[in-house]
Amino acid sequence: MSDAYSGRGNNDRSVTKETGATMTPGPQHGRATPAPGGPFLIGDTMTGGYGSGPDILHDCTIAVEKGEIAVIVGPNGAGKSTAMKALFGMLDVRGGAVRLDGEDITQLSPQDRVQKGMGFVPQTHNIFTSMTVEENLEMGAFIRKDDIRPTMEQVYELFPILRDKRHQPAGELSGGQRQQVAVGRALMTKPKVLMLDEPTAGVSPIVMDELFDRIIEVARTGLPVLMVEQNARQALEIADKGYVLVQGANAHTGTGKELLADPEVRQSFLGG
Ligand SMILES: Nc1ncnc2c1ncn2[C@@H]1O[C@H](COP(=O)(O)OP(=O)(O)O)[C@@H](O)[C@H]1O
Ligand SMILES: [Mg+2]
Repeated sequence: MSDAYSGRGNNDRSVTKETGATMTPGPQHGRATPAPGGPFLIGDTMTGGYGSGPDILHDCTIAVEKGEIAVIVGPNGAGKSTAMKALFGMLDVRGGAVRLDGEDITQLSPQDRVQKGMGFVPQTHNIFTSMTVEENLEMGAFIRKDDIRPTMEQVYELFPILRDKRHQPAGELSGGQRQQVAVGRALMTKPKVLMLDEPTAGVSPIVMDELFDRIIEVARTGLPVLMVEQNARQALEIADKGYVLVQGANAHTGTGKELLADPEVRQSFLGG
């Protein structure tokens, strides 16, 4: 696999990972210490940037609880995608930690995080355009040894248009349909948490509503969803938890309702 998961990850990864690997395992670097009761997935006070470049994230905390939809909003360049990549292990965090179900996974590669149950749909290059829809879904299941048909059936039930187009190259599909392929592909790993970076980028308002409905449907099955969204107002309307990021730091955090009602958030980020 040299797709969105591994390819980009390796490019973004800095040399500090090697240093980390040679460290003598002490108590902190050995077995993960479970922290029962914490959020299902948390990037806890993450600080870091790309390679040896400057820090992009500054003590940034992002979390999603079981059964919830958490949404990250904020201006362009705020570090939303960077925060997602940090959670997924695509860049090294110099400070802070990432924990999944209480386990410290800060040192794990993206591939290992997929094995642990993280499903990530990056903002760009999230499908194989020359492969058919069905081949994309099969590729999504690459880590599995069991029968993938029932999961594929679930994906087709969630996104019926994908069943109709299953033998078409994914690159021939509309923007909204491609995003369905990308989400479906992530679901094929049977993840324990789903991370989506701008799933509605470039689609019409109607298609956006439709995608949000499907995402809500996924979340209702108990799968926690963490997503970055440009359509801040609409996304916060469906969010249990919202994060406003500004310059790589947490600017506002609250329930979707609280953020929508916050005069400062409204004025600065929601157009009044
Ligand atoms: N691969 C990269 N290498 C170096 N800098 C990057 C990379 N990707 C993003 N950045 C920088 O990180 C900052 C945050 O970008 P990004 O996380 O993509 O913001 P957002 O998703 O909120 O629009 C920007 O200043 C951007 O230029
Ligand atoms: Mg982005």
